[in-house]
Amino acid sequence: MTFGLQAALLLGVQLVLSPAAPTIPSNFFYRDYLNGHGDKGTGFSGVKLQVDSAQPTVFSVRGGNATVPCRFWREPESSSPRRVRVKWSWRPAAGGHETDVLVAVGSRSRGFGAFRGRVQLRREFPGDATLLMTDLLLNDTGSYRCEVVDGLEDRSTSVYLELRGVVFPYQHPGGHYHLSFPAAQQACEEQDSTLATFPQLLRSWKEGLNWCNAGWLADGTVQYPITRPRAPCGGSGHAPGVRSYGRRHLHLHRFDVFCFSSSLQGKVYYLQSSKMNLTDAQQACQEDGAQVAKVGQLYAAWKLTGLDHCDAGWLADGSVRYPISSPRRNCGPPEPGVHSFGFPPPQHKHGVYCYKSGDR
Ligand SMILES: *[C@@H]1O[C@H](CO)[C@@H](O)[C@H](O)[C@H]1NC(C)=O
Ligand SMILES: *[C@@H]1O[C@H](CO)[C@@H](O)[C@H](O)[C@H]1NC(C)=O
Ligand SMILES: *[C@@H]1O[C@H](CO)[C@@H](O)[C@H](O)[C@H]1NC(C)=O
Repeated sequence: MTFGLQAALLLGVQLVLSPAAPTIPSNFFYRDYLNGHGDKGTGFSGVKLQVDSAQPTVFSVRGGNATVPCRFWREPESSSPRRVRVKWSWRPAAGGHETDVLVAVGSRSRGFGAFRGRVQLRREFPGDATLLMTDLLLNDTGSYRCEVVDGLEDRSTSVYLELRGVVFPYQHPGGHYHLSFPAAQQACEEQDSTLATFPQLLRSWKEGLNWCNAGWLADGTVQYPITRPRAPCGGSGHAPGVRSYGRRHLHLHRFDVFCFSSSLQGKVYYLQSSKMNLTDAQQACQEDGAQVAKVGQLYAAWKLTGLDHCDAGWLADGSVRYPISSPRRNCGPPEPGVHSFGFPPPQHKHGVYCYKSGDR
């Protein structure tokens, strides 16, 4: 008896492993196995769940909204729609763990962490799991995954969220290659920006960014974009490209940094006034109901609103710069850009760029 059972088990195993065994679509097999006959809606129904997004990438700007598409349906169409669970999660562009954005069951939903109050499901038609985001932050970029769970079926699709903006190289007032990774992160934040991601740097390089000093990126790598290789700068015998030093030690190694800024809610302008030292400049902006502009704000105004002014002015970090959209004689280099005089002594006299936020 025992022997016979073992033989049967062996035979069973052989049947399963045999390449000649007929293949059975597993959901039909399970339906019959669980219910005997017919579909009572347990999840093993032979109906396949499908999840799809209409676009691989969605673009927006800081402070703007984003519509991140996702829809699901069943094949063949199910006559008795059940409640599904929709979960959106986010993998930051900088890398790192996936975190929860929103979970919805039926008509209820809940946002998580920094997304709370800024996300909801669109639900315009049955199967619409599109994520609506408002008040986008600079660091919201990355991959958003829409996961739909229907009974025991679980499908997902991903959409990349990118912001339109500007990447700029930033150097510490103390000189080149002064910034550890945490210091680089802080330097960008102090200039109303965030560490640039690799896709952002790559796009800037395609748009012509040529920079001869290596800087940190959000993923902890150190790179620099070269469009015009020269001997000391990317190597004269090499093709243009983004050169990488790879991952460096976040605390021990020091470089410059690439920061990213996007649209402004306010306005940057050159304050017409007699030349001022840095203290006078801070006071002049304050008296005008504004603040000295940060470097990220000047870059955003230059890139996104075409700010063009041929006078150098103080900025909040103690540097002196000016934005040129239409290069001309006696206005610096022949390319458009935010041109810099570095960090002069604070008693030197210049004009100033002020920033007035939008809601004043
Ligand atoms: C974003 O969406 C909200 C409501 O959904 C709307 O009030 C606001 O005007 C939108 N903002 C922009 C910049 O389109
Ligand atoms: C994203 O930026 C906001 C401020 O702009 C900050 O409060 C938040 O901590 C940042 N989130 C991450 C994950 O760095
Ligand atoms: C700027 O000039 C004012 C006088 O106009 C003076 O009181 C202040 O100390 C000066 N600040 C710097 C940083 O030189």
